Amino acid sequence: MIVRMNEVKTSDARATAAAAPQARKVFIKSFGCQMNVYDATRMGDILEGEGYGQAASPEDADLVVLNTCHIRERASEKIFSELGKLREMKEERALNGQAMQIAVAGCVAQAEGNEIIRRQSAVDIVVGPQSYHRFPELLSKAARRSGVVDTDFPVVDKFQTLQTPSPQRLRGRGYSAFVTVQEGCDKFCTFCVVPYTRGAEMSRPIASILDEVRSLADAGVREITLIGQNVNAYHGDDAGRVASLGDLIERVAALPGVERIRYTTSHPRDMDDRLIAAHRDIPQLMPYLHLPVQAGSDRILAAMNRKHKAQEFIDIIARVRAARPDIALSSDFIVGFPGESDVDFEATLALVREIGFASAYSFMYSQRPGTPASDMDGQIEAHVKQERLAVLQELLEQQRQAFNRATVGQILPVLFEKKGRHAGQAIGRTPYLQSVHVEDAEALIGTIASISIEGTWPNSLKGRIVTHERSAAHGSMQTTNA
Ligand code: SAH
Ligand code: SF4
Ligand code: F3S
Repeated sequence: MIVRMNEVKTSDARATAAAAPQARKVFIKSFGCQMNVYDATRMGDILEGEGYGQAASPEDADLVVLNTCHIRERASEKIFSELGKLREMKEERALNGQAMQIAVAGCVAQAEGNEIIRRQSAVDIVVGPQSYHRFPELLSKAARRSGVVDTDFPVVDKFQTLQTPSPQRLRGRGYSAFVTVQEGCDKFCTFCVVPYTRGAEMSRPIASILDEVRSLADAGVREITLIGQNVNAYHGDDAGRVASLGDLIERVAALPGVERIRYTTSHPRDMDDRLIAAHRDIPQLMPYLHLPVQAGSDRILAAMNRKHKAQEFIDIIARVRAARPDIALSSDFIVGFPGESDVDFEATLALVREIGFASAYSFMYSQRPGTPASDMDGQIEAHVKQERLAVLQELLEQQRQAFNRATVGQILPVLFEKKGRHAGQAIGRTPYLQSVHVEDAEALIGTIASISIEGTWPNSLKGRIVTHERSAAHGSMQTTNA
């Protein structure tokens, strides 16, 4: 499961149902990237240790945590409207003599700190992405006085203090889970707030990652997505040596029960030979690569401080395709970066046409306070950004549909993750991260099965069971004559 730039409610019904009755309940709502999804899960683990069960909605919660994103203006401003609604809820509760606490976590917390409490005094706790392991202390401080802020980048990192969650919570992770292996960013793209909100690049030691993956696999997780802001810049300690992401993937692949591995998000500069070779050599590594390029014009790439040219990106893709010809490619794009001319924008379209993407995310440039690009000359008018975005998205959508149509007629290994809307229906993912709906497949949830792809819908595929036997997790593509 890859979740990007979406709202995710991390309250897990299965875990709630299985949990013993608990006095207090927390509701965590996450915005932004997969790093936040992972952090929300870990905050839930910590709060479980403090006696908090999971609430099904904010109305039902004693503590509501907004896990926020600062990447674009709209994402960031949305938090304040959410907080306004929570304040009303808190006031209503108070009239009935009930208490409710509000915490703001994530990247807006890091970027705005005290300012959040100044703008919304109903907030009890502000906690940054590197300090949420101190939630228990913050809760007890907040019980004594209002408005507690912790946005340090502590010396002792959170991974050293995070405990293994209970078996019950681990079972609630489902069959596909994120594991953070790297945090922070030293790249300083001129448009981006991440280096300021998440701090410098830091890699988690191999042993700590393997421990977490082992406990997830023991609890039934079949697919691990290794995540980081710059995951392929990973350089973690491996008993005194430095391991790269390729090394880490090999070690994770050797663990029993791990049938699929993915990683995200990568930077083109860090696509080394070892990682590219892993796509050829490690069968559990799924044929899917999300590699943001942002733009196709060298002038704009330089102004963005992306540290590579368009042709270098094209060359990397050629090497990746040579290692794994069927790989599905995905990317991020920004339109309307300061100074972007029609010619520059055409270069982005040309790059997209040359490569052919299976999926992509594209955004209008958003001016972020404190970033170098926000002060650059040549800011682009909103209507121009909108027009360019529409043109780019139409092209990317055509490519996505073409990719999906090309899988019709193939038999693909599908990892089934959850029930569908119809009785007996199950939903899973192909190696290329496409969502597949299959009837009469509920018994396959938690396993990988061979599925014949029979048709496409706008956002998913329609499949039919070929065999109930478990197939190889990775499975190469076959064409069915059926
Ligand atoms: N570390 C990752 C992800 C960063 S944020 C990477 O380097 O790819 C995810 C995406 O948000 C970026 O790839 C970029 O396309 C987009 N983004 C970041 N800052 C932005 C801004 N100021 N305006 C518009 N889009 C932005
Ligand atoms: Fe932001 Fe660039 Fe770092 Fe990605 S690589 S997080 S876009 S600064
Ligand atoms: Fe948003 Fe922070 Fe992720 S700004 S994209 S939640 S790293």
